[in-house]
Amino acid sequence: MTAINRRIVIFGFGGLARELWGWIRNGKDSALRERVAAFVIDGEPPADPYDGIPVLTRDDAASLGSVEYLLAVSEPAARKRLSAELDARGWVAGNYIHESAMLGVNLSIGRGTIVFPRCSLSSDAAIGEHVLVNGGTAIGHDCIIGSYTSLLGGISVNGNVIIGESVLVGAGAIIYPGKTIGDGAIVGMGSVVFRDVAAGQTVYGNPAKPLG
Ligand SMILES: CC(C)(COP(=O)(O)OP(=O)(O)OC[C@H]1O[C@@H](n2cnc3c(N)ncnc32)[C@H](O)[C@@H]1OP(=O)(O)O)[C@@H](O)C(=O)NCCC(=O)NCCS
Repeated sequence: MTAINRRIVIFGFGGLARELWGWIRNGKDSALRERVAAFVIDGEPPADPYDGIPVLTRDDAASLGSVEYLLAVSEPAARKRLSAELDARGWVAGNYIHESAMLGVNLSIGRGTIVFPRCSLSSDAAIGEHVLVNGGTAIGHDCIIGSYTSLLGGISVNGNVIIGESVLVGAGAIIYPGKTIGDGAIVGMGSVVFRDVAAGQTVYGNPAKPLG
């Protein structure tokens, strides 16, 4: 079986996973839709399929052979752990980029990265592996986004911003051009970030300040 026709599994069955299936299900790429074989979860799956797609455990999914997986889990640490575990099973990380995404030139997008509808990823930006770019997010020119980072939707990452690995940026945040957000930081929903954010720091508000 070549990479082109592997079955696809969506890892996760929360809201993000069911949304991802919806974008694929109602998207224009019928070949992609037909490759989706299952949702896969840890724990007890529901007995009934969801919209015709079965929900399996990892072991049940072994019968599908070497699948391509799309990680639909929003927490950066979970995506880092799960991607390592699924790679070790011989599963292949897939990309998903919704057909409505606007893509610039000299843009790099790492394996496993998922881009939901109505996003723009601008020229000369570098997006790492297993990054989640939720709907309506704009990533400006020359930005660098580290692996496992979650951009939870409706976010404006302006030009030349550097976001580290495993950062969580809440919905609707705005990041001032050229600022740096360190590894493992958390930016609250609706924040406006005017200053660099240190690694591991949580900030929120307008202007964004450290929590506590
Ligand atoms: C910033 C964040 C991580 C803090 O989470 P937390 O540590 O659990 O904080 P709490 O919910 O206990 O809130 C602590 C205080 O900060 C305030 N606060 C929390 N997040 C805030 C935000 N984004 N903007 C303004 N105030 C906020 C709370 O109102 C609370 O204030 P209070 O003590 O006066 O009532 C979280 O609120 C957040 O914004 N997460 C992102 C969520 C998101 O975008 N989800 C997308 C869905 S897909």
